[in-house]
Amino acid sequence: MFIRLHLIWSPGCSTVLVLEPVAAWKERLVGDAVRRRQESQVDLRCSSVCSSGKYMTFIMDPLLYPSVIKQGRQLDFHEFTDKVAPRTFGYPPVLGSTFPGLWEQVKRSFQLLQGDHLLPLTESMMGNLMLVFRQDQLDGDGGWRRGGLYDFCSSVMFEATFLTIYGKPAGGGRHRGMDALRKDFNKFDDMFPFLIAQIPIWLLGRTKAVRQKLISYFLPQQMRQWSNTSQFIRRRAELFEQHDQLKDADKAAHHFAILWASVGNTLPATFWATYFLLSQPEALEAVRQEVLDVLRDGGVDFNPGRDVILSKEQLDRLIFLESAINESLRLSSASMNIRVAQEDFALRLDNERSVGVRKGDVIALYPQSLHLDPDIYEDPQTFRFDRFVQDGREKTDFSKDGQKLRYYLMPFGSGSSMCPGRYFAVNEIKQFICLLLLYFHLQLEDGQNRPGPDSSRAGLGILLPSSDVRFRYRQRTV
Ligand code: HEM
Repeated sequence: MFIRLHLIWSPGCSTVLVLEPVAAWKERLVGDAVRRRQESQVDLRCSSVCSSGKYMTFIMDPLLYPSVIKQGRQLDFHEFTDKVAPRTFGYPPVLGSTFPGLWEQVKRSFQLLQGDHLLPLTESMMGNLMLVFRQDQLDGDGGWRRGGLYDFCSSVMFEATFLTIYGKPAGGGRHRGMDALRKDFNKFDDMFPFLIAQIPIWLLGRTKAVRQKLISYFLPQQMRQWSNTSQFIRRRAELFEQHDQLKDADKAAHHFAILWASVGNTLPATFWATYFLLSQPEALEAVRQEVLDVLRDGGVDFNPGRDVILSKEQLDRLIFLESAINESLRLSSASMNIRVAQEDFALRLDNERSVGVRKGDVIALYPQSLHLDPDIYEDPQTFRFDRFVQDGREKTDFSKDGQKLRYYLMPFGSGSSMCPGRYFAVNEIKQFICLLLLYFHLQLEDGQNRPGPDSSRAGLGILLPSSDVRFRYRQRTV
């Protein structure tokens, strides 16, 4: 892929010629831009790239983010996703006249992940986590068990999330073949950056066959037999039924895309939050005590011999746990927010500056540079579990150059395309960590460094660890 990179800052500018794959240039672009700014102290506000005749402007200064995010009408996200997502997941594009009204209806279905709809989802997730923990992890002899932390977190969260969103098999209980499904999912996920970069799937080995297998799991005749399916998925299935042009395989591919959305980021996010807490025993103890206190306030004296339930309201009160999750999202998130200009216009950045944007140009925010900015977050590479707590409440006051930031933590994107599953995601990570801390003694095995992030997914969400981390765990008796 041939890309001309044109960085603009004031004063001066530079042009670089690069020949490298998309993920690498994204990383290099942002990394270089941040480094050069730190080295030379120039005021780098935004930078533009020209690729295949299309201009991409990166907004580097987080104080300028509100100017972009508020331009929802002129800078749209969905034109981009409607080109990339169908090719990645294998369904026909839904915007346009082929499926009249479908896109708007799909968008409305996202509300079923939020507000009051979170209550049944939270309740169901709690039951499913408890089911998986009881059957797989809490039936042993009480001795130490060993494993890979990523593998542990992802196998429990994958299955419990699947059961919560898609429901249980006919007859209840657990679906057969979850491990095999997760392995296929991981194979697909490994190729995800290439698919997003629009590399033809036939160049990616067996990826097409693996995707076909994953899609076939969600064929309507199979899904109709499942029970306790979330209202979100039931509504989407109903919508797809109304469009005769959608074949069964297309409907299944849409459901598969939601599987990726619901676990693709949640699994690594769960790993990082758990890992960072385990790496700081005092943080782990403070969070565990907070969970026990909230249970005690609700009249529950926790006993590891019995199942526990934490309500949505109780989860909301866990501000240290929420802070620890936010802190791990800050450290592990590398998503890029992309907007496509719907018309020619002048994008006003502040009182002094505006950038001319032409129809079809792309504007990108890369919040990782803000998440790791030492002017905003002191000692930004260090995990501080209570960074987002102040005076017993959530801390929302972060600033740069003496100005309060409206956007200081953006793992879930921004504006109209902001992740609709964000509340569910944070809730389920909280639930998982609560159960883990309540039911187990946990330790990282000695002699291991903090794993680096695998940057092949830079720009696409939560980064996976470059390698798994060994840990041991033992069931608590009191
Ligand atoms: C979109 C992050 C979990 C459903 C997105 C976007 C991001 C994101 C960055 C794109 C937003 C943009 O570019 O402005 C995350 C992270 C998660 C998570 C970090 C976990 C830690 C979930 C879960 C669900 C979900 C659990 C569903 C149950 C979706 C959907 C979209 C989306 C449907 C597409 C929205 C649209 O097209 O407008 N997510 N997500 N996500 N997410 Fe999440």
